[in-house]
Amino acid sequence: MILIIDFGSQYNQLIARLVREHHVYCEIEPPSISLDQIKALAPEGIILSGGPGSIYEENSPRVDPAIFDLGTPVLGICYGMQYMVDALGGQVRKAEKREYGFAELHIKDAAGIFDGIEKKTKCWMSHGDNVGRLPRGFRATASTPTTRVAATENSAKRFYALQFHPEVAHTPKGKRMLKNFLFRICGCRKTWTMKSFVRETTREITSVVGDNNVILGLSGGVDSSVTALLVHQAIGNQLTCIFVDNGLLRQGETAQVKELFKKHFKVNLKFVNARREFLKGLKRVVDPEKKRKIIGRTFIETFENEARKLQGVEFLAQGTLYPDIIESRSAFGGPSAVIKSHHNVGGLPRKMRLKLIEPLKHLFKDEVRILGKELGLPEDLIWRQPFPGPGLAVRIIGDVTQARLSILRKVDAILLEEIRESGLYKKLWQSFAVLLPLKSVGIMGDQRTYEHIVAIRAVTSTDAMTADWARLPHSLLGRISNRIINEVRGVNRVVYDISSKPPSTIEWE
Ligand code: XMP
Repeated sequence: MILIIDFGSQYNQLIARLVREHHVYCEIEPPSISLDQIKALAPEGIILSGGPGSIYEENSPRVDPAIFDLGTPVLGICYGMQYMVDALGGQVRKAEKREYGFAELHIKDAAGIFDGIEKKTKCWMSHGDNVGRLPRGFRATASTPTTRVAATENSAKRFYALQFHPEVAHTPKGKRMLKNFLFRICGCRKTWTMKSFVRETTREITSVVGDNNVILGLSGGVDSSVTALLVHQAIGNQLTCIFVDNGLLRQGETAQVKELFKKHFKVNLKFVNARREFLKGLKRVVDPEKKRKIIGRTFIETFENEARKLQGVEFLAQGTLYPDIIESRSAFGGPSAVIKSHHNVGGLPRKMRLKLIEPLKHLFKDEVRILGKELGLPEDLIWRQPFPGPGLAVRIIGDVTQARLSILRKVDAILLEEIRESGLYKKLWQSFAVLLPLKSVGIMGDQRTYEHIVAIRAVTSTDAMTADWARLPHSLLGRISNRIINEVRGVNRVVYDISSKPPSTIEWE
């Protein structure tokens, strides 16, 4: 495995994903990790990430410098390079000119980390400090017009450092450099595959759970579905999945989950019809935050009620992913707070005092999808666009009623059908409809109508933190609008949402 020390760069998850793309397992840990913990991980190599800090500032992040005595290869990137230089007795100083963006990299000799790379290539820089004096045993191996030491190494000790970011796409040969580090320098083998992950994880789940029982809140989304199948593979009927039908789901969704998990995978699945409770709680509630709170609370009550009926339950399985762990860790300065209630299916029955099993907690979303495929999940579930926990309630602006849910469901089904048909479904982060609390005048046949307005929202994004409205073809928008107005009684106007995030959000509430 490769250990990545997180000095706070926004690109850290990118480094980890690139390493794993090469089938080498890696973990990201904060600089506060102790030497003993590092030794226990027994990494083949250590990568010191970039970060916003400056090494000569008082509180700049530092990892135990004894890592340089382990005999393990180390690669320092940007701030990681400066930390390495400083820790080994060199000198870092403020650059006369900040360097940001593309730079021409001149490589002295195409060997070691630069093996197989032409001597002139582009790289991506983002730094305000640079290396003045090199530590003993180091030599400069590349430069740019403004930075004399753009790369340095002590090949006898297998220490390498790059001032630029090899992990970003703007450094075209960066992937090759990381590959050189992993295989030529660290001698890693390609052992990280989803098959090996399934084997090791199921073994671990079996030994942790023993004879006890596990429950899981299944939502029908990718993360909870993959978790369910993985845990099921490990312990079979000791797992009970609870699916709460809150009445806020899309057309055909509950039937699909039932069919797949109960019939096909033979998972122990409890279906709870709580539609009435949810609707009752939401009656005349228009405030978005109140809606969310009511839905969250009702979910937990329903889930706990069901769970209490089961015997010998000691564990709760959850589909927490690696980015949640890393992000909450950096935000809170320690690995304690791991759960983002907003994104976790159905929140957390804290009062139940169950022990958590989070078998996906070291995986990225793309890996979860590969794992889902490995476990036999159908493609359309694996590539399902995200759907918020509070469901259609946050896509019905104003009062959530049975009648309005029914309209939105029909509209949404048409929209998704057309988007799928057009081949755009996988390219869009999300595409959905929103029912507005407005009516407008129209004409149908010879009749004046006064009916609902729906908005169509389609966005592209990579992580939901920012999003752009999708430039859907006009012909597609036309077809969607025509079909909705013709086929859904009660709607006479369709509008398209052309706002990006920020300043808007993806969902309307
Ligand atoms: P916003 O609307 O904040 O949404 O731009 C960002 C992403 O999060 C999804 N979302 C939720 N997911 N529970 C969830 O599991 C929620 O309460 C929730 N609210 C928003 C939203 O669909 C988008 O992908």
